[in-house]
This record gives sequence, structure tokens and C-alpha cells, in this order.
Amino acid sequence: AQARRKLIAGNWKMNKTVSEGLALVRELKGLVASLPGERVEVAVAPTFVSLHAVAKELEGSSVKLAGQNCHWEASGAFTGEVSAGMLKDVGCTYVILGHSERRQFFGETDETVNKRARAVLGAGLIPILCVGETLAEREAGRTLEVVERQVTGGLKGFQAAEVATFVLAYEPVWAIGTGRTATSAQAQEVHKSLRAHLAKLYDGETAERVLIQYGGSVKPDNAAELLGQPDVDGALVGGASLKAGDFAAIIKGGA
Ligand code: G3P
Repeated sequence: AQARRKLIAGNWKMNKTVSEGLALVRELKGLVASLPGERVEVAVAPTFVSLHAVAKELEGSSVKLAGQNCHWEASGAFTGEVSAGMLKDVGCTYVILGHSERRQFFGETDETVNKRARAVLGAGLIPILCVGETLAEREAGRTLEVVERQVTGGLKGFQAAEVATFVLAYEPVWAIGTGRTATSAQAQEVHKSLRAHLAKLYDGETAERVLIQYGGSVKPDNAAELLGQPDVDGALVGGASLKAGDFAAIIKGGA
């Protein structure tokens, strides 16, 4: 008896100008409106500069908005940063945290991810906490050790009731933007282990409530199979979310 909803989110990364982003969500809104909604929630994560315009365009639609990152401080002298409160104010529901690109290129650690998550919850937003192993780590048989460490670190200090509101995203680094997706069996294995890890850290009920998305080369032709796995509660989609038709086809695969 799995009561969890599915969440399909499009991470636009550093793509789309404001006008390009508006064109994309206009098309997406139309396509999503004709899908049988209920169990599948849809979100998009544009760049910070497009959030306001996209939020206006999404008014009255069921498509939710996500930030791609945020700082842990509420405001002040932090040039170049955006706070969780600002993301809430502009209309976000979710904030992606600890994406592997941020860990790899911008020095993100489990500790800073944890601080950001605290700010995100404090602002009344939902964190999408990303974890995932590199190819070298997988080949060394360290996959579970790595993702469990990232989950434990990212969730440090949170109570079970808070943890239950989190979304986790399992994104194997070797599958991101490579066209090489994890098989549905590989994804299910890690998702199931992560849920068991949550049950160990907190309790079984909390573990059952946490949504665990898969990310890494999700495309229209592999979405249904991945999303059909019992512990895969949605997808975090990069490249394929930049085309409304492809993204809608992925959403349909989860319905
Ligand atoms: O956050 C989504 C992501 O990293 C996957 O990207 O392009 O492989 O779907 P992509």
C-alpha cells in the first residue's frame, strides 16, 4: 500500500532566458492540463532571474516552482546569493539542494547542504536533497556508503517529523547528462536502501513518507519503467525538461 505521490521536477540548470523560459512553461501548462493529474505533481526549476516571470505565467496552473539552490542566511552582505525567504516570496514550493554540479564545481558539502536545508524548512519550503555516487565510487562498490553518508549529513539535526517532509533525489553522477541512465533495477536497489537507511536513522513511518526521486538521463523512453519501481517516487529531469513535449511525455510515464 504505497500512498506516496509522485513528483516530477524539471531542473533547467543554467539554461533559458526569461522569454525562452516563458515559452517553455506556456507550452508545458497546456500539455500538463490535459494529463490525468492527481497522483503526479509537476514542478520546474528555472534560473533565479526567470523565477518571477515564470511564477506569474504559472498562476492558476498546478505546476509548482522550485529554486535551484539558496543560501542559509536570511539576508545581508552575501553578494551573489539568494535566500530561502526570497524564494518563498517569489512563489517557490521546492528548493533543490546539494546537486552534484554544486558539490563538484562550487564546493558544496554535506555540511553546507544541511545548513541550507535548515533555512529552506524555516522558510516553509520543501528541500529536494540530491545525493549520488561518482562512477569511480560505484566501481569501487562504495555506492551505498556514499549516498548514505550524504543523506545522514544533509539531514543532521532534523527531527523525524521534519525529515518526513523532505524530498530526496538519487542522481548517480555518471548518469547525469551522459545519456547513460541507471537501469530501473539499479535505481530501485539504491532507493530501497536509502529508505531502509531512513528507517534506521528515524523510523519506518518516516521512511515510508519521504519521496525519493531518481535523476540522471531520464527520457520519455525510459521514464515509465523507472517510475514504475516501488521506491522511485518521481524524477528530477535535466536535459529532457527543456523541451515541453519530452517533459510532458515523462510526466505521462509517471501517471
Ligand atoms: O537534476 C537533474 C539532473 O542532474 C539530470 O540531468 O540532463 O541527465 O537529465 P539530465
